[in-house]
Amino acid sequence: MSNFAYFLFFMQRNGIIKMVKVVSGMESVYIHIPFCKSICSYCDFCKVLHHGPWVTQYLNALLLEVNDRYNGEPIKTLYIGGGTPSSLQMKDLKYLFDILKKLDLRELEEFTFECNLNDLDERLLQFLFTNGVNRLSIGIESFQEEKLAFMERRHTFSDALQVMDLARKIGFTNISLDLLYGIPGETLKDLKKDLDLFLKLQPDHISTYSLIVEDHTKVGNAGIIPIPEELDASMYEYIVSKLESKGFIHYEVSNFAKEGKISKHNMQYWNNEEYYGFGLSSHGYIQGIRYQNTKSLTSYIKGKWLLKEEVLSKEDKMYNEIMLGFRKLEGICLKDFFDKYEVNLQEVYDLKGVLRQEEILYADGHLFINPRYIYVMNEILIKIL
Ligand SMILES: C[S@@+](CC[C@H](N)C(=O)[O-])C[C@H]1O[C@@H](n2cnc3c(N)ncnc32)[C@H](O)[C@@H]1O
Ligand code: SF4
Repeated sequence: MSNFAYFLFFMQRNGIIKMVKVVSGMESVYIHIPFCKSICSYCDFCKVLHHGPWVTQYLNALLLEVNDRYNGEPIKTLYIGGGTPSSLQMKDLKYLFDILKKLDLRELEEFTFECNLNDLDERLLQFLFTNGVNRLSIGIESFQEEKLAFMERRHTFSDALQVMDLARKIGFTNISLDLLYGIPGETLKDLKKDLDLFLKLQPDHISTYSLIVEDHTKVGNAGIIPIPEELDASMYEYIVSKLESKGFIHYEVSNFAKEGKISKHNMQYWNNEEYYGFGLSSHGYIQGIRYQNTKSLTSYIKGKWLLKEEVLSKEDKMYNEIMLGFRKLEGICLKDFFDKYEVNLQEVYDLKGVLRQEEILYADGHLFINPRYIYVMNEILIKIL
């Protein structure tokens, strides 16, 4: 961004001038919908139980935030996540999609809508498809009764099969499923059964998460002990080898995609590119400024959405580039790094040790974490940073 553009942006943010919109390149947009029809025992996401009057007030505030923040750039990827966006009633969904009309979506490539399996019926799927959603991300997590009971979620494999059939008939060609593993008591055999059933649904993309026992969740408060690290590691290893053998590309620590179905929106994050985040608890990175929104629904509804923001220095940006870029299996392109920061990555960070230990590898102009060590990636990043 030029200094002039930054100057205008600064003046506008600080209320010194109004109505100046600095339009730069293509951007991505994340919108958070915090409502859920029920609350899962393990979930630490920013969410509240669905309550009609709050939804309307929330969407009113969301409209104000979009109007205030958005600078008019064409949007390349749009992700509506949560919470559970699919928990909204039809009238609220229509309102949400009216708000989206404020964005320039003429060049939109990917539009993801996050759903809970139990919310999906023909009417909702048809509405989403007709209104431009071209990627569904569905929380399924498991089909094992004991795991589901632990999570306080309820559905069957036949529910999922029905929804997948319906979605395919309606025309969705890009469907991602979430799988949760590492539930206390879960065995490798349980995970294998789950993964086989997930594959029967023929998703285009799978995100796998190992359970994190978070404080202030029901399971955290109950003092649940996470599964042993060795079991967690062998589960991860199993997932990687099974999904790769079925033609999925392991492109990010927790994400697997069929050819052509890598999530463009998430790649925007991992490539350390800019994006807007609108809604409760969202964070964004626009014109060199990282910001985070409040997690208080009351404040958000009152229009006090911003929690904090920070103008990033070149060092901060390079740090983020490393933290995010190494999550991708392809790693970091050295030329791109140089083009962005006008300095060689190896001059900024001492990589000799991790290269010698083969924790980081080099090939085709990219530095990447040795896939054998991806599981302990955080420790390697600490060594570098
Ligand atoms: C916003 S939810 C997905 C959509 C929808 N709300 C649902 O749950 O069906 C995003 C994902 O985060 C995962 N998640 C939430 N809390 C987690 C935790 N403590 N550890 C690991 N994954 C977690 C969930 O399993 C879920 O698939
Ligand atoms: S996992 Fe999904 S449905 Fe469950 S509480 Fe969290 S956001 Fe809501």
